[in-house]
This record gives sequence, structure tokens and C-alpha cells, in this order.
Amino acid sequence: MKLAEALNRSRAILAQNAIEDAPLEAELLLRHVLNINRTQLYLDLEHELSPQDEKTFRALVERRLGGEPTAYITRHREFYGLDFYVNPHTLIPRPESELLVETALRLAQDRPSTIADIGTGCGAIAVSLALELPGAKIYAIDISAAALEVAAINCQRHSVADRVSLLQGDMLKPVAEPIDLIIANLPYVRESELTPNNFEPLIALDGGAGGTESIARLCRQARSKLAEGGSMLLEIGQGQSEAITGLLDSLFPDGAIEILADLSGIERVISLSLSEIKVAR
Ligand SMILES: C[S@@+](CC[C@H](N)C(=O)[O-])C[C@H]1O[C@@H](n2cnc3c(N)ncnc32)[C@H](O)[C@@H]1O
Repeated sequence: MKLAEALNRSRAILAQNAIEDAPLEAELLLRHVLNINRTQLYLDLEHELSPQDEKTFRALVERRLGGEPTAYITRHREFYGLDFYVNPHTLIPRPESELLVETALRLAQDRPSTIADIGTGCGAIAVSLALELPGAKIYAIDISAAALEVAAINCQRHSVADRVSLLQGDMLKPVAEPIDLIIANLPYVRESELTPNNFEPLIALDGGAGGTESIARLCRQARSKLAEGGSMLLEIGQGQSEAITGLLDSLFPDGAIEILADLSGIERVISLSLSEIKVAR
């Protein structure tokens, strides 16, 4: 069978089984089997697929049909234009979380900062910031040791291991110094919305009964850790902005709060900025 035929058949099967982005997913799986980039795939469309590769490809398509995410099958995910290693111990980074990175860059560009990425998972946010902000000191914190092993691989892969400190622990507890910029994509799925056969780790998804329990706990921890003039960026789920802005208002009465929407128009990031303490002269 030619590559073109294998690709078209698998695209059709995935689409018939309601797999979103079937054309792209089929392509990623075939490229994974052949270990080639996109350009090479399209140059080779008329080449024959070897019987062994055809068998492997078929098995991967079956796994995808069984619900396993393509990123776990291929062990790759692109985020902020960078390639990240992922495995089932980490959440698969989502495109909407790039809004956290873009907003963090706007806030941190002009001054050297101490940054903490809370719930770093595979390290996608911390690594993206480390590459853009060579002067920043970055802590990447996660409660899961298995996730931190993945983050370590990504720090090595992108040559930022000397500038990103990986720490295991509960949110801000492992850091003693004041933090200029706290960024967090913590679990925010409501308990009732968790599906039983989810492939991603529960600890990365479960936000408690209302979905906001972890985020709320971080807000409280931040009171003693956020530096004067510092900022905090929180990724939230749909419909959670009111609960979190209300809490931030009560915890940081002088802070400026902004809500940012993602590309789908959904309120996705809450930004809190504290003012500098003005010293009387
Ligand atoms: C939604 S995932 C986000 C992963 C990554 N930042 C991303 O955007 O792809 C949440 C992460 O928070 C971690 N986590 C959950 N509870 C935590 C806690 N109490 N302290 C630190 N990390 C926690 C999970 O292990 C998981 O890696």
C-alpha cells in the first residue's frame, strides 16, 4: 500500500469514529511510524509502506480508536512552537495555555524576575518562558514526582536545565523567597465532569467539587509569597472567573485584576497585579 492510501484510509476511519482533527491525527501517527517530518511525508506519498510499517501503523490507529490520545502514542506534543516529550504521567499541554506564556512575557519582559510555574507537568510553560527570558530565575513546581521526571527531560531537550529549578511539593511551599511572577495551570475540572476512562492523570485534572479548590488554595498561599509589585496568572475553566476574582478581591484588596479570554472567547486567564509599595521620601 502507498503512503497516500494508508493516510487517506486512516483519516476516513478516524473521522467516522468522531475523532476530532482526524486528518492531522492520522498524519501524526503515520509520521511517527516512519520517523519523518511533514515535508518528507508529503514528498513520499507515492512510496510503498513496508508490510511491517503498515502493521505498526494499523496498531497505532487502533489505539487511537480506543481513546488513547495521539500525544501519548507518539510521546510528543507541540506547545508554543516547541516540541515536548509527554507521557501518561503528565497532562498533554493545551494550546489555550499559550495565553499564560504570552501574558507572562508581557509582564516579565522589562525586568529580571523570579518566576514560579505551579503545577508544571511536562514543563511546557516553564521551558517556554526560560527560552524567552534568559535573565529570569524559574522554579517549576509539581506535586507529582513522575511529572517532574518528564519536565527534567524537556529542560534537557531545550537546554534550560541550568536555569529551571524543578521542585517537588505543594504549590508554593517549596520556595522560601518572594516570587515576582506566579503562573499556574492547576487542575480545574469539576469532580462531576471527570470521565471514568480518562487517559490523563487525575491529579492533573481534578479540581474538586466546584473545580476551583486547587486554584483557591494557591491564591491563599500566594498572600505570603507574591513579591511587592508582583503578578499572578491563573488559568481557569469555563464559568470559574467570578469565584476566583471574588476570592482575589478579598485576599488582595489593592490588587488589579484582569480577565483574559482565549481564542474561542472563553475567559481563560485571571491576572492579578500588586502595586509597588511607595516609599515616602
Ligand atoms: C492541569 S495540569 C497542568 C500541567 C502543565 N502546566 C500544562 O499546562 O500542561 C496540572 C498539574 O498540577 C499538578 N498539581 C496538582 N496538584 C498540585 C499541588 N498541590 N501542588 C503542585 N502541583 C500540583 C499536577 O500534578 C499537574 O501536573
